[in-house]
Amino acid sequence: MTKNGKTILLTGGAGYIGTHTIIELDKAGYNIVVVDNLINSKEEAIHRVEKIINKPIELVIADVRDKQRMNALFDTHTFYAVIHFAGLKAVGESVAKPLEYYENNMNATFVLLDVMRTHHCKNIIFSSSATVYGDPAMIPITEQCPKGHCTNPYGQTKSMLEEVLSDLQHADQEWNVVLLRYFNPIGAHPSGMIGENPNGIPNNLMPYITQTAIGLRPELGVFGNDYPTHDGTGVRDYIHVCDLAAGHVAALTAIDRQCGLATYNLGTGHGYSVLDVIKAFEKANGIKVPYSIKPRRAGDIATCYCDPQKAEQELGWKAQYDIEDMCRHSWNFQTKNPQGL
Ligand code: NAD
Ligand code: UD1
Repeated sequence: MTKNGKTILLTGGAGYIGTHTIIELDKAGYNIVVVDNLINSKEEAIHRVEKIINKPIELVIADVRDKQRMNALFDTHTFYAVIHFAGLKAVGESVAKPLEYYENNMNATFVLLDVMRTHHCKNIIFSSSATVYGDPAMIPITEQCPKGHCTNPYGQTKSMLEEVLSDLQHADQEWNVVLLRYFNPIGAHPSGMIGENPNGIPNNLMPYITQTAIGLRPELGVFGNDYPTHDGTGVRDYIHVCDLAAGHVAALTAIDRQCGLATYNLGTGHGYSVLDVIKAFEKANGIKVPYSIKPRRAGDIATCYCDPQKAEQELGWKAQYDIEDMCRHSWNFQTKNPQGL
């Protein structure tokens, strides 16, 4: 039993954000149990975290949609809260396989909520995304910004699940529901032992940059240079994954205060363009990233960055790492794991 004795269940905890969150939760003195079906992660990632925190982690290899297994897990543990990371997240794949995305992301959450309710565990932190703002109605984006149109099934599942969780909390006020809208997580643990491990050709900017820098890809395509931004390329709010992970520990303090329903943006509040990120990466690591300008990517927006003040005021959380740290740590992970985990 650790200092506060509270046990947190992490669904999808073997993934990119989950593994980094384990480290922050451990630092804060929580006990951790992970349930993951390893559809987009490897058991090795958990072993790496065990080395970092120097203790064993209880990993249950199961699908969250498997109600029998989930009931058995809750029968044998008392969870203070669940952090629900489990889900499929590749935007392009979700357009090609909508049914698989809706089925997995929605049903996993329905099963989880039902099992939680049966076992009187009514505290949940949900991994949502800035994608719910669509093409945002305001910049910087506050939590007051109306939700927008999501152009893909992945984004739809996030937006719909936010509604499901809100309705649940309205119907039964014993629930504490924290919706965390992540901006663009990049970077890796400073040890370089864990990081983002995409399958196949990366869709997201930073893994594409690191794979190009290491020679796995000939060049980076910059998707559009005619956006209404300072250099014409898309602007995003990149956040170090360790800061994002710490945001989950901070979100547990909202649950401690019986927050009911609460929504927070987790970002830095700074917008960087694609060319800014390339320059920061080259400066931080002393390595060139070959690139060329390509047409815009369907569904992309010009600018997306948040106003992170609500999380700072209510959770006492603020991102600490800067863009060069993010670039250095992403590259450190790539060079230490050239073929991934
Ligand atoms: P990830 O794919 O690395 O981790 C998700 C984990 O969930 C994986 O380990 C996968 O094996 C597991 N999983 C998926 N379906 C499951 C199921 N039915 N049962 C059990 N395990 C299952 O993704 P991540 O980047 O760590 O993201 C975590 C969460 O945050 C996801 O819900 C994602 O949609 C959300 N999110 C991520 C980003 C991002 O840029 N990484 C941005 C916004 C929101
Ligand atoms: C994407 C998803 C979003 C998801 C987020 C975090 C889309 C349309 N949106 O957002 O739903 O929540 O990831 O996982 O995919 N870029 C390039 N070249 C590349 C890759 C990206 O120029 O090879 C540009 C993009 O056009 C964008 C920026 O880099 O301007 C960031 O792209 P990406 O990392 O894919 O994140 P988002 O598009 O913000």
